[in-house]
Formats: sequence, C-alpha cells, structure tokens
Amino acid sequence: MPTDIQFTLNGQATSVRVDPERMLLDVLRDTLGLKASRLGCGLGQCGACTVILGDHAVTACDTPMWSVAGKSVTTLEGLGSRAAPHPLQTAFIEEQALQCGFCTSGMLMRAAALIKRNPHPSEADIRQALEGNLCRCGVHNRVVRAVAKAVA
Ligand code: FES
Repeated sequence: MPTDIQFTLNGQATSVRVDPERMLLDVLRDTLGLKASRLGCGLGQCGACTVILGDHAVTACDTPMWSVAGKSVTTLEGLGSRAAPHPLQTAFIEEQALQCGFCTSGMLMRAAALIKRNPHPSEADIRQALEGNLCRCGVHNRVVRAVAKAVA
C-alpha cells in the first residue's frame, strides 16, 4: 500500500508516496532520478549502492523505505559538485582511485561516513571500513591511498 514517507535527502526535505517495503535504491534511482548510487548485487554484498543514512553508511539496495522515514539520507549527489568537489573526490581523482568507476560512488560514500564519525582514521580503520565495498578492477589500494590523502 503506497504511503507518504518524509525524509531529508541531500539536505532537502523530501516526500515520496511509495510502498514502504520498496528499497531506498529503487526510490533514489527510479522515483527521484538520482542515478549515482549503483545497483550491483542487489543483495547488500558489494557496496555499489552505499549511501549515508544518518551518520552511517548503508547499502541502499536492502534498506526499506519505512526505515528511512524521518531520517537524513546523503547520496553522492549531495557530497560535492564539479564546482566544489568534496576533498575525497579530489583525492580520488589525484590518486586515480578508479578504473571503470562502477563502485566509486559507494566507495566515496562509505569513506565519507567513516570520516564523519572518525575524522582521523588510521590506514587500518580505512581498510576495515571499506572491506565491504568491492571493486572488480582491483583499485582497492589506490582507494585507501586516496582516503588517507583526503584525511590528511
Ligand atoms: Fe547493494 Fe550490491 S547493490 S550491496
């Protein structure tokens, strides 16, 4: 049964009328037109769809809309812009921390959530935080370098 769900999306009050069991990723991409969060596995196992819910990174593909009500969601569209990139985005470019780019949105959002909670993570903290974000191209070490650079 469609229900009105209110939440904050990238700093803007947002309301959508959707089935509360529908997944956040579907609503972001198909209802709200925000395509940065990617559908990889659809099972909460690859991290391509990672967004920030409150202060924590979550996989949007297995986050039902009822759990988003009244909360704050940040997607890559809310992290930075071409004109004013987030330090993580600048560091990813400088370190060439991507290849095909499919996982990059999720990597950035997971890293942003880490820095939000822990502004000075160690390399071990960064590796642990990102262990659920998979990259088939194998740029993990570059991603870790980029996050460390952004933190510094
Ligand atoms: Fe959500 Fe893989 S698409 S974790």
